[in-house]
Amino acid sequence: MHRVVRRVINHKYTQIKPEILQKDTIIDFDCFIKRFDDYVIIIEAGSAITDSLVKKIQQHKVIYVLKHDMEKVNVYTTLYFKGEDDYLNITGEEIIVYALKLSETVSDISTVEKRLETVYKTTSDLMRYIFERSNDQMPIDALKTCVTEIIRSVDVPINILPLLLDILPQYYTTYHHSVNVAFFAAIIGKYSDIPNEKLKNLAYAGLLHDIGKMHIDPILLAKPEQLDENEYKIIKRHSQMGYTILEMNKIDDKDIVGGILFHHEKLDGTGYPQGLRGKVIPKFARIIGMCDVFDALTTHRTYRQNYSSYEALLLIKQEMREQFDEVYTDTFIRLLSKS
Ligand SMILES: [Fe+2]
Ligand SMILES: [Fe+2]
Repeated sequence: MHRVVRRVINHKYTQIKPEILQKDTIIDFDCFIKRFDDYVIIIEAGSAITDSLVKKIQQHKVIYVLKHDMEKVNVYTTLYFKGEDDYLNITGEEIIVYALKLSETVSDISTVEKRLETVYKTTSDLMRYIFERSNDQMPIDALKTCVTEIIRSVDVPINILPLLLDILPQYYTTYHHSVNVAFFAAIIGKYSDIPNEKLKNLAYAGLLHDIGKMHIDPILLAKPEQLDENEYKIIKRHSQMGYTILEMNKIDDKDIVGGILFHHEKLDGTGYPQGLRGKVIPKFARIIGMCDVFDALTTHRTYRQNYSSYEALLLIKQEMREQFDEVYTDTFIRLLSKS
């Protein structure tokens, strides 16, 4: 393979394990190694992974990819990497231990920004682990610790929405999406009519709202083309599947269950699974549903560019006004315009 050495500056990188690169595949993202403070390209996007290249890559303990390529890395691993192990440099057990120790970890961090970043990262790692392991029995204690810290991060005397928007990745994965929705829902809840003592459950429901997708083929979930009728029908099952997973984990709080089961209901009755209308849709589901669409519009999917936060909220407020509760859309807009 022709070796390309190029210095790339002003980009952010993330680690992956070299083992994910599989022989006889073509990668569509650049791979780097770190030399002192520089990142040096070792494989360019478009390269075929040959046998000798595999051996060469595996001499490195870690390799790096650009963070904005993570969506491509996720699609690649979904298609080709069949290993049991996590492809980021951390094991499942370590992820759970980090999550369980999260309160202790953040108590040592003095700035709101750094605490927020740590909570975000640990919770996304945990959600990635849960989705990839795809086991109905979830690590409930670790999830609860993360939810407690999400609420603590939101429960500060400043509007953390701008800080949060700054640290969110621009690419879409189901696990980042789950964490984003948990944070957005907690923020909207705090500044609207949700009592303080219910905020934790709202964030919990946000975090698990798409948990039913755990059992849907990741290739279908990552499919860049428009879904056909049958594929859409399969995806729509995730609300009900989520409900079943909650039952198996003995999560029976009425607000959480309603928030998850009905997060795709729309005020005008065009949603699913039951086509509920108006205020019959529980408040948690109305908040989560709006945050869900906001996050889907503002993160980059393979088939389209993302909208800015402002454009997304304008679209929800003006073109989807029949579907979403204006009270919560307005709260979101108010918080965004204060940033
Ligand atoms: Fe969903
Ligand atoms: Fe969602």
